[in-house]
Amino acid sequence: MKTVLITGCSSGFGRETARHFLDQGWSVAATMRTPDPTVLPASDHLHVLPLDVSDPSSITRAVGAVGPIDALVNNAGIGWLGAFEGTPDATVRSLFKTNVFGTFEMIRAVLPQMRAQGSGVIVNVSSSVTMKPLPLLSAYTASKAAVNAYTECLALELAPLGIRTRLVLPGQAPSTSFGSNARALMSEANDTPGAYQAFIDQVMASFMENASQEPTHPSDVVEAVWRAVTDENCPFRVPAGSDAVALAA
Ligand SMILES: NC(=O)c1ccc[n+]([C@@H]2O[C@H](COP(=O)([O-])OP(=O)(O)OC[C@H]3O[C@@H](n4cnc5c(N)ncnc54)[C@H](OP(=O)(O)O)[C@@H]3O)[C@@H](O)[C@H]2O)c1
Repeated sequence: MKTVLITGCSSGFGRETARHFLDQGWSVAATMRTPDPTVLPASDHLHVLPLDVSDPSSITRAVGAVGPIDALVNNAGIGWLGAFEGTPDATVRSLFKTNVFGTFEMIRAVLPQMRAQGSGVIVNVSSSVTMKPLPLLSAYTASKAAVNAYTECLALELAPLGIRTRLVLPGQAPSTSFGSNARALMSEANDTPGAYQAFIDQVMASFMENASQEPTHPSDVVEAVWRAVTDENCPFRVPAGSDAVALAA
């Protein structure tokens, strides 16, 4: 039986991806900051483990507890929407700590074992915003663009070791907790000068209009991750959702 470790399984894409791999007969290490096994169906093959990607010791503990890993899905991530001038430095650092350094540290933790077994798949969940820059998303987009560039280089150096590396690029998926989690962060710290307000209102209206059409559904992302992990001929970049697919065309 193959084993996948997925980060950020408490909600959204991570939870649905964990559910799919379980359905397909994989052993699933579904990791969460606050473990709650009830968010997934009970199974002997489900291992819910605590893991905060911004805490290297928690990464070491979780990866050590899982044993041999065939696939790692770096899904955990946080968002932020706002004018850069009103984005506190601590917020930018927090975005990079989770989205970029969290991904780096996860990969650092699994590589010795994947290298020793001469196989493995690493899938990094980025975002379609890296294909079409949007206002109010500069810090978030920069964090995901860093993940893209890193993953492109990594794929080249890991391929000779038998390790495949892929990028999944989801479009806008309003049904996950991503927006509400981002809004919670934004309400903690935001110091945007009033001169931006009219533009922010205009951009927000366009985001809401787009979101009402639910261009990306979590099942699109599940399908893309599944393909990235199981199909050796899958392209390096896998857009997920109709909006992401249109951008990639
Ligand atoms: N939804 C979208 O429109 C969209 C579009 C493009 C890309 N993405 C990307 O897709 C991924 C999943 O997002 P989603 O839409 O499924 O959002 P979500 O429902 O908010 O899920 C994000 C997950 O990441 C976890 N997480 C956050 N910080 C973490 C940390 N330090 N350590 C471990 N886990 C952490 C959250 O756990 P907690 O419950 O503990 O907060 C949650 O389980 C993210 O990387 C996001 O950037 C989302």
